[in-house]
Amino acid sequence: MNRVDWDVRGLASPAGVVRVPGDKSISHRAVMLAAIAEGRSDISGFLEGEDCLATMRAFQAMGVSIARRGDQLVVDGVGRDGLQPPAEPLDLGNSGTSMRLLAGLLAGQAFDVTLTGDDSLQRRPMKRVIDPLRLMGAAIAGDDQGRAPLRIGGGARLAGIHYDMPVASAQVASCLLLAGLYASGETAVIEPGVCRDHTERMLQALGAAVTRTGNVVSLAGGQSLQGGAIEVPADISSAAFALVAGAISPDADLLIEAVGINPTRTGVLQILRSMGAAIECRNERMCGGEPVADLYVRGGPLTGIDIDPALVPLAIDEFPVLFVAAACASGTTRLRGAAELRVKESDRLAVMATGLRAMGVAVTEYEDGIDITGGPLTGARVDSHGDHRVAMAFAIAGLRAEGVVRIDDCANIATSFPGFETVAGQLGLDVAVRTGDSA
Ligand code: S3P
Repeated sequence: MNRVDWDVRGLASPAGVVRVPGDKSISHRAVMLAAIAEGRSDISGFLEGEDCLATMRAFQAMGVSIARRGDQLVVDGVGRDGLQPPAEPLDLGNSGTSMRLLAGLLAGQAFDVTLTGDDSLQRRPMKRVIDPLRLMGAAIAGDDQGRAPLRIGGGARLAGIHYDMPVASAQVASCLLLAGLYASGETAVIEPGVCRDHTERMLQALGAAVTRTGNVVSLAGGQSLQGGAIEVPADISSAAFALVAGAISPDADLLIEAVGINPTRTGVLQILRSMGAAIECRNERMCGGEPVADLYVRGGPLTGIDIDPALVPLAIDEFPVLFVAAACASGTTRLRGAAELRVKESDRLAVMATGLRAMGVAVTEYEDGIDITGGPLTGARVDSHGDHRVAMAFAIAGLRAEGVVRIDDCANIATSFPGFETVAGQLGLDVAVRTGDSA
């Protein structure tokens, strides 16, 4: 495989107006739900990142016609029972969302299917979806440790369950709701913490009845969806890199346009504000059933904080770059209750701790968290372990590092943030890309 490493150095303070790509979670759901809806859906703002393209290709392989027209993705829905058996295993690349949500959506189909992915995806825990899907009657199996490839047997008769989810995972909740569409009776998921609610919002937008009572979300099986126009806002998880770039650069003056601010996703705003960052939500409006705002950030001093564990699921993907903010703050930032970070695209606690230490930052790692004491950053060679968000977080650290930050293994940035190099330039970073063959 062609290996991509980056040399990054900070040149200037982030200023002006930037746009970041469409929301990854919402883009996945848009393609999945449009594919099994009746009629045509026009998706605008779709994220053309590798993860969402893997979802798109999976549905194309199951007979769904999906085409780009201008800046829209046009999906001709085949209806709830119109998917065709794919000729080969569905390769979902690096994408945990594709695998876990598709496991649910495909558990009630008439045909057999195998879901596979890259090395990172094959290391990630899938028992969290296998176990409840089996309780619903699905014929699904992973390897002996419950990892991908996942083999799903067709023709299973699913029955709804009431499932007390052991981890606050939107992917698990969404998996079960999608399986629930194909199950008899009611499927209910009890969430132990706040989970992003894009699936229920989009199901409702496409005509399904979904009920939420506190932390319980439920739907009745047998419902059909109706295609239509779907708008995808910019991804707050991608905006987070620009937000931290602004927050750690004394002269920053930056506007990030049309970012989704769904309250299940805004932990990054709350955490950065508690650290002293000046962030305003301007021009708040609705976009395709999701709240959106332009985010304005100015640079200034940051102070270390104890992060409220209740905010962990609301900022789960933003911690790599929040750790960079912590490294640039005065005092110590403490995070606990975040063991989930160990089973993301990489072990994000370990990988970030190693890289930040190489840059001269004082870090203590715990099983479920980390302490980071801010101080001067030096250039260093750091390994992203193929994790897109880790690679981008270290690039942002380049704004405050004395010298060059060499980041190994950056190709997966394209999974969530195609065009990051251009935005990095707007944020005041110089990026030199080095390519070569990896062993
Ligand atoms: C996602 C949910 C989160 C998040 C992931 C995307 C989703 O994962 O980390 O990047 O689209 O539902 P968990 O469900 O494992 O918390």
